[in-house]
Amino acid sequence: MSGLHGLATRALRGLDPEDAHGLAIAGLKAGLGPVGGRDDPVLRGALAGVALPNVVGLAPGFDKDAEVYAPMLRAGFGFVECGTVTPLAQRGNPRPRLFRLTQDRAVINRMGFNNHGLEAFARRLARRDAAGVVGANIGANKDADDRIGDYVTGLKRLWGLASYFTINISSPNTPGLRALQTKAALEELLGRLSEARDAMPAEGRAPMFLKVAPDLQAGEVETITETVVAHGLAGVMVSNTTVSRPELRSAQRDEAGGLSGAPLMALSTRVLAEFAAAAAGRLALVGVGGVASGADAYAKIRAGACAVQLYSALVFEGPGLVTRIKRDLAARLRADGFASAQAAVGAK
Ligand code: FNR
Repeated sequence: MSGLHGLATRALRGLDPEDAHGLAIAGLKAGLGPVGGRDDPVLRGALAGVALPNVVGLAPGFDKDAEVYAPMLRAGFGFVECGTVTPLAQRGNPRPRLFRLTQDRAVINRMGFNNHGLEAFARRLARRDAAGVVGANIGANKDADDRIGDYVTGLKRLWGLASYFTINISSPNTPGLRALQTKAALEELLGRLSEARDAMPAEGRAPMFLKVAPDLQAGEVETITETVVAHGLAGVMVSNTTVSRPELRSAQRDEAGGLSGAPLMALSTRVLAEFAAAAAGRLALVGVGGVASGADAYAKIRAGACAVQLYSALVFEGPGLVTRIKRDLAARLRADGFASAQAAVGAK
């Protein structure tokens, strides 16, 4: 990271976390983001047939409104997932709703899908040039009468505009949302989504993923896997934030919301490995939760992820982190004799 970016990151750390995020977005929009170098070819991979210049992606929640995917791709991310977007703009929960747990290298958030709505999101995605992999993460409005209908609306409106879609049913901050992970509800959700997908023009077709929570009951990994496969989805994003609280030291550890960052690494990687075992090669898996180093990224790839994503570590390290992670991951892949990140997927 350059001196200027290091200074900016330290300055942002002194602010209220949501104000800091707003400033970071403004800075990125103004062209003040870092510029990553050319990608090492060993970092190449694929996301359900979508070629990735490198397998380190930006997790959703950072660019909720599709405003800064271009500067984040320029900073060196191999792909950027925007959203979660809901059909109607909504304010989310009252502030404060984002907490930095510095001693734990963790974040707790209860944002509640604050976003500018589907129309603004679609307009911004439509302006993108073809270069770069940009995913769209779709959700439901808090007050929707037909929550599943909201996902269908999102998919249809964004058809042809995104490199891939993620169906997010795992935010802990919209009451009742995670109930969509249970068998009957998931059957209905994926049934209606796959029907809508199959009725859309073939040319806009892009892989569809399901994003799950790490807090699943026994047997749910297998049920979700079979339902996802049955409806022709491409894969699963593992995972969203956790409502569990592993041992934490920071004063804000008891804030309500989803926990992310370092304390989520072990749990989300364990659940990822469970999905890899259940899917047995039938699904593309993305590992997300606690990635802060090349070693973390490599652990997720060996657990079965074809790519990884991160968000919380950026809060502490700034956007220059992606370059360091890639350098370290490339060295680890080479040291173990892999020709590409893709070749290392699932290699215990
Ligand atoms: C998130 N995350 C998230 N996920 C999602 O699918 N839609 C969203 O809108 C958000 N919003 C969001 C806001 C904030 C402030 C945070 C910290 C996280 C979850 C995120 O994409 C990721 O799954 C988890 O944070 C775990 O990864 P990290 O942060 O440990 O790398």
